[in-house]
Amino acid sequence: MTGLAERRATVHGTDRLRPQDFKRLAKFIEAYSGIKMPPSKLTMVEGRLRRRVRETGAADLSEYCNRLFEGGDLPAETVHLIDAVTTNKTEFFREAEHFRFLLRTVLPTLCADRPATQAVVKLWSSACSTGAEPYTLAMILAEFRQQHPGQRVSILASDLCTEVLHAAARGIYPQSAVQAVPPELRSRYLLRSREPGRGLVRIVAELRAWVQFARLNLMAPDYPVDRDFDVIFCRNVLIYFDRPTQQAVLQRLVEHLRPGGYLFLGHSESIAGLVLPLQVVGHTIFRRTVK
Ligand SMILES: C[S@@+](CC[C@H](N)C(=O)[O-])C[C@H]1O[C@@H](n2cnc3c(N)ncnc32)[C@H](O)[C@@H]1O
Repeated sequence: MTGLAERRATVHGTDRLRPQDFKRLAKFIEAYSGIKMPPSKLTMVEGRLRRRVRETGAADLSEYCNRLFEGGDLPAETVHLIDAVTTNKTEFFREAEHFRFLLRTVLPTLCADRPATQAVVKLWSSACSTGAEPYTLAMILAEFRQQHPGQRVSILASDLCTEVLHAAARGIYPQSAVQAVPPELRSRYLLRSREPGRGLVRIVAELRAWVQFARLNLMAPDYPVDRDFDVIFCRNVLIYFDRPTQQAVLQRLVEHLRPGGYLFLGHSESIAGLVLPLQVVGHTIFRRTVK
C-alpha cells in the first residue's frame, strides 16, 4: 500500500491488529481480568480498540501496542484497555426466576432468622455492568419492605469496567431498556424524564441511595469488602473465565458470604466439578453450607 492509501485505510477504520500484538494484548488481558482471549477474539479486540487508538492520538493499532508494551504506557492505559474489551450486556429482571426466588424464598428466610430492625440485609452484585442487576435487586428489596417496613437494606454493586460503573451510578436508562420491569414496579420506582421526547427514565432516589458502586476486579487476590453478605450475585461473568479461574473466584466470593448466605450464578454457569462449600437450592442458586 502507498503511504496515502495506508493513511486512508486507518482513517476509515480498517487498521488491522498484527497477530504478534494481539498475542501481547491477550496475554495481558487474560492475566489482569481473567477474560479468555482466544485467537477468535482478534477481530473483536481490533474493533473495540480503534476508538482508543483515536482517543490516545496513536497513529494506528501497532503504535498503540508499542506505546503500551515498549513505551511504558501500560499502567496508565490499563483501565481504558480493560474498559474497551469487557462485554457488558445486561438487562433488568434478567433470568427473572432468580428475582422471584429472592422475593419469595430468600428474603423471608433471612428475615425469619432475625428481627427486622436488628440487622441490615446485605446484597452484592459482583459484576453489575450498567446497573440493571443491582437496581432490579433494589426494586425487589423495596417490594419486600412493603411487608417488612423498617427492614434496613444495602447493596454493593461492583464491576471491573469504569465506564459501566459511571452509567450505573447515574441510574438513567432509555425506556426501551426497562421494558422487562413489571408495569406496577415501573410506576413506583422509575421517574420519567421531564423532556418526554428523550424517552429516558431514572431510578428513584431512594433506591439509588441503597446502592454503593465500586470498581472491583474479581481476579484480585483479596476483595476489600465485608465478609457477611446475605446474598451475592455473580452472573454471566464466569463464562468469560477458564475453569481454574472460576474455582479461584468462587472460592474467594464464598468467603464473603455469611454461612447460610445465597450465591446466584448465571443460568449458563455451573459449579460442577468445582470444590466449594455450597449446596444447590435452585436453578444456579446455591447456599453456603454452615461450617
Ligand atoms: C455480561 S456482563 C453481566 C452483567 C450482569 N451480571 C448480568 O448478568 O446481566 C459481565 C460483566 O462482568 C464484568 N467483568 C468482566 N471481568 C471482570 C472481572 N475480572 N472483575 C469484575 N467484573 C468483571 C464486565 O465488565 C461486565 O460488566
